Amino acid sequence: MKRACVIGWPIEHSRSPLIHGHWIRTYGIDGSYTKVAVKPEDVATFFRTLEQQGFAGCNVTLPHKRAAYEAAAVREASAEAVGVANTMWLEGGRLHCANSDTYGFMRHLTVSAPAWQTKDSPIVIIGAGGAARAIVFGFLQAGVGAVRVVNRTRARAEEIAAHFGSRVSAHGWEEMRSVTADAGVVVNTTSLGMAKQGALDLDVAVLPAHCVVADIVYVPLETRLLASARARGLAVVDGLGMLLHQAVPGFEKWFGVRPDVTHELREIIVADIEGR
Ligand SMILES: NC(=O)c1ccc[n+]([C@@H]2O[C@H](COP(=O)([O-])OP(=O)(O)OC[C@H]3O[C@@H](n4cnc5c(N)ncnc54)[C@H](OP(=O)(O)O)[C@@H]3O)[C@@H](O)[C@H]2O)c1
Repeated sequence: MKRACVIGWPIEHSRSPLIHGHWIRTYGIDGSYTKVAVKPEDVATFFRTLEQQGFAGCNVTLPHKRAAYEAAAVREASAEAVGVANTMWLEGGRLHCANSDTYGFMRHLTVSAPAWQTKDSPIVIIGAGGAARAIVFGFLQAGVGAVRVVNRTRARAEEIAAHFGSRVSAHGWEEMRSVTADAGVVVNTTSLGMAKQGALDLDVAVLPAHCVVADIVYVPLETRLLASARARGLAVVDGLGMLLHQAVPGFEKWFGVRPDVTHELREIIVADIEGR
């Protein structure tokens, strides 16, 4: 039996077991995927003994993503670019890591709004945290010419621009309107828009008609940003698809099957979010 898990502290809230459990059943795999609560002081030991514990690998959530990166002997470019990892697997007796948020976001964007690739317009990323970094890397890998990072704390946007080089520029919050006016894709990567948080104050009226608006927040499923973009007739991309697609590479590494992100899977997670 192949075993994988998700670790974090706390870990109760994780929806990863719902995703992987669905795929294990769908593909008839002799496997398991469980939640393991690991305290920060125990995380290095956890990774060191992963194989002895019988795991093929694991997902990693807060606050262990940096520790995962540091524990790995081999790091994929996605993890190197962001400096944190969320997917670990054993290969040839060595611990490998990746950051599958890059794949998850770019895959979902391309499946949901493929036309984004036909325009050579600047990309605007709002926010400058770990998720923003993963997504900036994705757009650069896809070959876009200009990525603008807008953040409340401008210094963090500047760090990202310095890290990735001349195709990335940094902007303060007050530039939101001017930098989005010719955008091909706008992505909210801040926590604004989450249930019990304020909404992101972006005026969708200034966006070009071909602009795709993406939000990586997925509770609620449709943020106010997405609702206003949809009402204006713009293409919208939600955050749930990123969560589902980012799970694919890990499942394939651990269980040897590349799983599909289906409507049925999405409905399982939507039901959980809506408390049904
Ligand atoms: N859909 C998915 O699969 C997926 C994957 C990863 C993350 N996420 C979601 O993405 C969000 C960000 O995650 P992260 O890991 O990048 O977090 P993070 O590293 O903590 O970064 C948070 C970002 O949000 C900004 N922010 C927070 N509160 C703000 C406010 N009141 N006004 C303006 N900006 C504010 C921060 O700006 P400052 O720098 O100024 O503080 C920073 O840019 C979270 O909601 C997370 O749940 C979703």
